[in-house]
Amino acid sequence: MSKVAVVTGGASGIGEATARHFAASGWTVVIGDVGDVRGEAIATELGATYHHLDVASEAEIVAFCAAVYTSHGHVDVVVNSAGVLQNAVRYTEMDMAEFDRIHAINVRGSLLVNRSFGTLMSEAGSGVIINMASLTTYRPSGQPAYAMGKASIKMMTELMAAELGPRGVRVNAVAPGYVLTPAMQARLDSGQRDPKLIIEKSALRRFVQPADVAEAIFFLCSDAAAAITGVTLPVDCGWLATSAYTAYAAVP
Ligand SMILES: NC(=O)c1ccc[n+]([C@@H]2O[C@H](COP(=O)([O-])OP(=O)(O)OC[C@H]3O[C@@H](n4cnc5c(N)ncnc54)[C@H](O)[C@@H]3O)[C@@H](O)[C@H]2O)c1
Repeated sequence: MSKVAVVTGGASGIGEATARHFAASGWTVVIGDVGDVRGEAIATELGATYHHLDVASEAEIVAFCAAVYTSHGHVDVVVNSAGVLQNAVRYTEMDMAEFDRIHAINVRGSLLVNRSFGTLMSEAGSGVIINMASLTTYRPSGQPAYAMGKASIKMMTELMAAELGPRGVRVNAVAPGYVLTPAMQARLDSGQRDPKLIIEKSALRRFVQPADVAEAIFFLCSDAAAAITGVTLPVDCGWLATSAYTAYAAVP
């Protein structure tokens, strides 16, 4: 029986790279996204299934989960990559409607996807869930709604790991650094992010590629990571290590 991986946000960026990696490894892949045209095209190319899914809608998540289980009977992996970035803004000036929108997708959306699939995985006694954290889980950035949401993802991952572990389900997160996805490229193009500063502050002196994150996700979902649950793993080309190190002028 083929293993089944569900990837929300699989129509672009990290989710797309993850869908490609699992499909290339012989898994059955199901993509849920709001980007229907790209999602359908990628699914066709990969021999995967595409569903329209807005993770801001609980009703759509419940229907999506039911449809996946009806079609496949079981789910081995869920990757929550549906998400939106935020442009820099002072928290004192932030539009609260934007705060609510970002939290509805990035935090509440992941929570509800995990609740639907996690319940059925628990009943089956096995499964792996991957959440999408960020460098902003660990360091403040000028994206208040996004950063606070990504800090919540770490806590969500830990409490779900504690709750679902005894039922055979592992829950981990990746914390990608600056990943060259369409969402990031749009911010580089508009001047919202400075590529020179990003590269200078990354130990490996490069951006993270979507495939780098997909590799880490695939590892965390594999039996090689059978004893790993509740972690939030940076995949950041050493950005977290370098940000303090480079504050000392005497060090090359
Ligand atoms: N790009 C980075 O540098 C970076 C760094 C850290 C974390 N992340 C996180 O990784 C995840 C993916 O980001 P990305 O850079 O690949 O972005 P992306 O825009 O390339 O891909 C995100 C996908 O999510 C989908 N999506 C957006 N809102 C949705 C919704 N309401 N319901 C369902 N699907 C929805 C989009 O249509 C898109 O296909 C996000 O959670 C993001 O916060 C990205």
